[in-house]
Amino acid sequence: MFKTVKGFHDIFGKDIEYWEKLERNLKNILNTYGFREFRLPILEKTAVFNRGIGDTTDIVEKEMFSFIDNDGDSVSLRPEGTASLIRAYIENGLTNQVGVKKFFYIGNMFRRERPQKGRFRQFTQMGVEVLECDSPLLDAEIISLLDNISKGVGIDEFTSIEINSIGCKDCRPIYKEKLIEYFQAHIDSLCDDCKRRLSKNPMRIIDCKKDSCKVISKDAPIVLDYICSECNNHFNKVKKYLDDIGTKYTVNSRMVRGLDYYIRTAFELVTDKLGAASAVGGGGRYDGLVKLMGGKDVSGIGFAVGMDRIVALMKEIEEIQERKTDVFVIFFEGKSFEYGLKLINDLRKINKSVEYDYSISSMKSQMKKANRSGAKYAVIFGENEVDAGMASIKDLETGNQFEKNINELVDFFNNIN
Ligand code: HAM
Repeated sequence: MFKTVKGFHDIFGKDIEYWEKLERNLKNILNTYGFREFRLPILEKTAVFNRGIGDTTDIVEKEMFSFIDNDGDSVSLRPEGTASLIRAYIENGLTNQVGVKKFFYIGNMFRRERPQKGRFRQFTQMGVEVLECDSPLLDAEIISLLDNISKGVGIDEFTSIEINSIGCKDCRPIYKEKLIEYFQAHIDSLCDDCKRRLSKNPMRIIDCKKDSCKVISKDAPIVLDYICSECNNHFNKVKKYLDDIGTKYTVNSRMVRGLDYYIRTAFELVTDKLGAASAVGGGGRYDGLVKLMGGKDVSGIGFAVGMDRIVALMKEIEEIQERKTDVFVIFFEGKSFEYGLKLINDLRKINKSVEYDYSISSMKSQMKKANRSGAKYAVIFGENEVDAGMASIKDLETGNQFEKNINELVDFFNNIN
C-alpha cells in the first residue's frame, strides 16, 4: 500500500467543512480591508528564497525541497509566500501601477521540518503583503487585522498578539555585536547549530528550541535596549495606534522571527494549545526587501497565518457537521424514469444536492442506498403514483412519508433549507 510522504497529509470528509468555512471567513475579512488576491506559483527559482529569506535562516539552510530541473536550474517548492510575492510584484511591474498594493494569497507551502503536532512538511498559509507605505499606522492596522482574523474565525479565546521591534540596518549590527559577545562567553553550552549561527546570525540563537540554548538565551541582551531612536519612535507609534484601534497586545522582547527580511515591527499570533507549534501567525515590516530582490526602494509589511493550525483550534471550539445530500431520487424504468431525471435536473438548478441510483435497481435496494447516502429526503416515483401525477416524499430522518403532486415538488424543496 502506498502512503503519503512524511509530513504530508490528506484533507477530506468533515475537515473540508472547516477548511471551506475558514477560507470563506478569511476572504470576507480581507475584502473589508481592501486586499486583492494573488495566485503565485508553487515552484520558484531557489535563488528567490536564498535572497529573499536569507542564506543563514533555517528555512534556506536545511528546510527547502529543492532540485535541479532538466534545464539545470535549481528550483524549490515555496517554503513561504513573501519572497514569491515580491518577485511577482517586481516582475509584473506593479511598482509603477496606480492602485491598491494590498495583496493576499492562500496556498500550500513546503518546509522539511521535523513533523509534530501542528508542524507539517506541507502546510497551508494565508498571507497578506502591503507595499509602498511605511506609516506606523499601517503596522498597527496589519496587527489588528491579524487579531480580527483570530476573532472572525472564532479562535480568539486561545490566542494573543505579541509584538516587538527588532531594529533596522543601522542599529541591529550593534545589537548583534552585543549578542555575539554574550553568547561567546557561553559557547561550550550552545548546540552545534548555534555555534555555527554565532558569527553569521546570532539572533537565530534566541529562537533555538534546544533546552540548553534556551537556558542561555534567557539572560541574553534584548533588542529593545539597543534599537535606535527612529526605530523606537516608530515602535512607540505602533503601540499608540494599536491602543487607539483597541487591539490588545503584549510586548515580547525576545521575539526575533525566523526570516531575515524583517526590520522594526515584528509580531505573532500565539497560542498555548498546539504544543511546540505556538505561532498561529506571524509577520513584520520588511522595508528594503524589494530593493534587495532587484526592485525599487519601497517598504513592505505583512504576515501569514498557518491555516492547518487555525483549523486545529477551530475543531476544539466548534463541531461542524459534514455536508449532507439533500434529496435521493428513486425512480424506475418506464414513465417514472422521465420524471426522475427531470426532478434531479430541476433540483440541481435550485442548488440542491441530489443523488440517485445509477443502476436503477429494485425499490428495496434503492431505498437502502437512499438511507446509506445520508440524504435528508427521498423522493419516490412509484409507477402507480406517477400515473396519478403524484410522488412520495420520505423524510429519512423521521421516517415520515407523504404524497405530493409532481408539479409541486420543486417548490416544496425550494422552501426547505
Ligand atoms: P512564518 O512565521 O515562517 O512566516 O510562518 C507563518 C505561519 O505559518 C506560522 O505562524 C505558522 O502558523 C505557519 N507555519 C509555518 N511553518 C509551518 C509548518 N511547518 N507546519 C504548519 N504551519 C506552519 C512566514 O512565512 C512569512 N512569510 C510571513 C510574512 C508575510 N511576513 C511578512 N509577510
